[in-house]
Amino acid sequence: MNLVEKIKEKARESVKRIVLPEGDEPRTVAAAKIVKDDWIAEPILLTPETIAADAPRRERYAAALYELRKAKGLTEEAAAKLAADPMYYGMMMVKMGDADGLVSGAVHSTGDMLRPALQIIKTAPGMKLVSSSFLMECPDRSLGEDGLLVYADCVVNPCPTAEELAHIAIASAETARTLCGIAEPRVALLSFSTKGSASHALVDKVREATEIAHSLAPDLALDGEMQFDAAIVPEVGASKAKGSPVAGRANVFIFPDLQAGNIGYKITQRIGKASCFAVLQGLAKPCNDLSRGCSVDDIVSTVAATAVQARQ
Ligand SMILES: CC(C)(COP(=O)(O)OP(=O)(O)OC[C@H]1O[C@@H](n2cnc3c(N)ncnc32)[C@H](O)[C@@H]1OP(=O)(O)O)[C@@H](O)C(=O)NCCC(=O)NCCS
Repeated sequence: MNLVEKIKEKARESVKRIVLPEGDEPRTVAAAKIVKDDWIAEPILLTPETIAADAPRRERYAAALYELRKAKGLTEEAAAKLAADPMYYGMMMVKMGDADGLVSGAVHSTGDMLRPALQIIKTAPGMKLVSSSFLMECPDRSLGEDGLLVYADCVVNPCPTAEELAHIAIASAETARTLCGIAEPRVALLSFSTKGSASHALVDKVREATEIAHSLAPDLALDGEMQFDAAIVPEVGASKAKGSPVAGRANVFIFPDLQAGNIGYKITQRIGKASCFAVLQGLAKPCNDLSRGCSVDDIVSTVAATAVQARQ
């Protein structure tokens, strides 16, 4: 059974309500039918018309949104207007407990979906920031964890500090455990240097991130700074980072910034022929973004992953 099938199985154990704000988009409508028919989740399709038909609920959400954001300058009029927008209405459904999670992005850009998620859903207690993990499934089963590689952060944080990188590393290990079923995440913090082979301020940042992550999660198998080959190829790991608990056998890969992460996942997908999808981590409730080029199957997979995250 591949990763997506395993995630769907888990989702079926406890059916969650997942709101789809792009409820008149044809791929989303088709995916919602599959999700419902296969008992993966209970989909809630939103359109401006469905929202207009429930004025009391929309007004309740507008009032709650105003309370949430008035200190940031949101007026009552602006809150009322936002509450009629399916993206904001969907976020408020999740915030108010009327849905367990949200999936969007077949039409909207990543930023359009992320901003309301960050403003309304916010980070989970104890989490410093929201980031993402890309779950990459490679045809070569000798790589990572039986072919499964977790890449982060490829979606959210353009230029993380050392402390933020450390938090991304720890959150990604947790995603590897809870969503991918990887019992022993082994986390490599990637760089163009392995254990001091090059010196540069960018390398220092990754080294500092490794130290912070070690102090925050001393029991986690985590190491850096490390080049990608040293992280994934046993022979290279053994020669470049002798004695490392991670080198050559990493299954979670932390990229130093968003450019590296985003380019890295696309190379793995296009040249390495990996199948992949992304999840956000660190939000108080699960909301996930799609690529605008997504297929119906991609939407179904992301809804299933969101439903599994909602169980935690
Ligand atoms: C995430 C992103 C949308 C934030 O947008 P922004 O315009 O910088 O937003 P702001 O800095 O005004 O922050 C908005 C809110 O989100 C919060 N926030 C921003 N980044 C955050 C993060 N990583 N984790 C948690 N909260 C965050 C801010 O604290 C702020 O909260 P507040 O309004 O309650 O004070 C922006 O960083 C972004 O566009 N990232 C890249 C996304 C992208 O295009 N990815 C492409 C790859 S597919």
